[in-house]
Amino acid sequence: MIISILNMKGGVGKTTTTLNLGYALAQQGYKTLLIDNDPQGNLTTGIGIEEYEQTVTDTYLNGILPIHQLSEKLHVIPADITLSTVYNELSNKVDANFRLFKSLKAVNKDYDYILIDNRPDAGILASNSILARSIHVFS
Ligand SMILES: Nc1ncnc2c1ncn2[C@@H]1O[C@H](COP(=O)(O)OP(=O)(O)O)[C@@H](O)[C@H]1O
Ligand SMILES: [Mg+2]
Repeated sequence: MIISILNMKGGVGKTTTTLNLGYALAQQGYKTLLIDNDPQGNLTTGIGIEEYEQTVTDTYLNGILPIHQLSEKLHVIPADITLSTVYNELSNKVDANFRLFKSLKAVNKDYDYILIDNRPDAGILASNSILARSIHVFS
């Protein structure tokens, strides 16, 4: 199941919810993937990932899933400020709103839960996050 934690307001607990829900689900034995979909990268730093070469930016631009295995059950795809470039990079691509959907299709069956943390946004990042939740309808 893919859950997108999204709200148009900042500072309302999106990242805190994603992080704690993720930990709790993993602790209960559910295989869980957290995706940081915010260029601020608060989930990434909050969960303790300090070193990474690739981020969710590479997912959007190249279809790569740079998954960090924090534990057997808890995996994370980090984000950093480069994520803010995807608005320009994808603006003229027909599948701009389906990039996450396409990439996550390959791993959806490997996880009990995929949680996506978002920035307050009504652009490409938000639509990718919302549309990714429809994967189960097509697979
Ligand atoms: N349930 C809560 N009770 C009290 N403070 C909270 C709660 N959830 C989050 N916070 C605090 O609110 C601030 C914003 O939370 P955050 O999760 O970063 O929001 P967002 O991701 O929506 O911007 C942080 O300082 C966080 O520690
Ligand atoms: Mg946040």
